[in-house]
Amino acid sequence: MARLIIEGGRPLQGTVNISGAKNSALAIIVAAALATEGECVLENVPRVGDVGTICLILRSLGVEVWFDKEGLLHVNGRTLSRYQAPYHLVRKMRASFYTAGLLLARLGRAEVPLPGGCAIGSRPVDYHIRGFSQMGAEVTIEHGFMKAACERLKGTHFYINRSSVGTTVNLMIAASLSEGVTVLENAAKEPEVVDLAIFLNGMGAKIRGAGTDVIRIEGVPSLRGIEYSIIPDRIEAGTFMCAAAITGGDVTLKNVVPEHLRAPILKLEEAGVTIEKGATELRVIASDRLLPIEVETTPYPGFPTDLQQPFVACMTVADGTSVIRETIFDRFRYVDELRRMGADIKTERETAIIRGVPKLTGAPVEITDLRAGAALAIAALAAEGTTELYGIEILDRGYEGFEDKLRALGAAAKREETIEGIDIFAAESPLQA
Ligand code: EPZ
Repeated sequence: MARLIIEGGRPLQGTVNISGAKNSALAIIVAAALATEGECVLENVPRVGDVGTICLILRSLGVEVWFDKEGLLHVNGRTLSRYQAPYHLVRKMRASFYTAGLLLARLGRAEVPLPGGCAIGSRPVDYHIRGFSQMGAEVTIEHGFMKAACERLKGTHFYINRSSVGTTVNLMIAASLSEGVTVLENAAKEPEVVDLAIFLNGMGAKIRGAGTDVIRIEGVPSLRGIEYSIIPDRIEAGTFMCAAAITGGDVTLKNVVPEHLRAPILKLEEAGVTIEKGATELRVIASDRLLPIEVETTPYPGFPTDLQQPFVACMTVADGTSVIRETIFDRFRYVDELRRMGADIKTERETAIIRGVPKLTGAPVEITDLRAGAALAIAALAAEGTTELYGIEILDRGYEGFEDKLRALGAAAKREETIEGIDIFAAESPLQA
């Protein structure tokens, strides 16, 4: 167990390099195993916990997956042979369910545990399952597993009931090797979906329309490995933009795609922040005190749900009352922790009303989910005094070298092992651990 200790009150200054997009990497790493000729070599893969988990799951299915000394990730799907995904790994991360699309496409059979709920609400996969069925798979749900079988998936015309990144990704993966044409209506338009489509087309897939509501996938007999570089992580970028904004800092983010951040940029500018846009970088120059904003999370290109929590953290010290409405998930549990730091927030169902206070004060807080951890770290950077963030392992799932990047920007942030890490049963003296 470890905790992150942050001393607040220091404006962040300097440059931070944004890592590859976790949510693109997870989809692309699974899709890479579709290839039966050659291997995929992936660049700009973030070294985060969730990427580690998906690599272990692929290995357990027989896929060769390894990082070389330059940090490139090699995936060779030729040896994929097992169709049962291991419960103890899948339960750790919802995106593991992407293996269902891979296994059905490659082996015609899949047994994948249903992902449990998590701290941001129940997250069903009914759309994924309905899509597989409509493509001809025989699907049963038993003992917490989805069991599906199909000689070869067939193209279909499928309407996704509400914009769903996971459903769009999983059905694109499944349809790439199916027979005939699959059309996904009301498809998700997130940049990570487009990145996956570009990658799959590079492997020989025939996908059109990614980034629009209608994606057309014409199945092909096989795919081959290619080299590919993952897009930058727009949510990590938005997180550091919020950290610069709340601390009154001046931070340049390198290796970003400003186009992917249009909504967060506009809302921070509305809050009084100056943002200079380059081709692949953004400079965030904060004003003295943020102005309040109103915003609602919606599917891309709207304001991303994953930045709802960092933005609420910023607005806790704004000069006025902000209203932030969360329409995608149930993800306000972290607000209780912000209140422990002196935030004045009322939540009514999917709306948070944040009355800005002059300052927050440091406190011990619990990280409940990935983006909640980001929000609490952002609040801690501006709070007076010391904040101890417990559950830092959750942050490690989606942010590469988080405290190192903060320290490089002048933050007083350090990681400390906690006493829970001590095996008291191994102790042979009062002081021995
Ligand atoms: C992806 O989650 C991201 N995760 C999430 O990022 C992100 O918040 C979310 O998309 C945004 O929509 C990855 O890419 C690995 P959805 P996903 O399917 O695919 C409902 C992070 O912090 N739904 O787009 O799970 C669902 O309950 C994570 O990096 C169904 O009802 O989200 C939600 O209300 C958090 N049935 C809505 O659709 C289904 O079968 C959008 O979910 C599928 C989804």
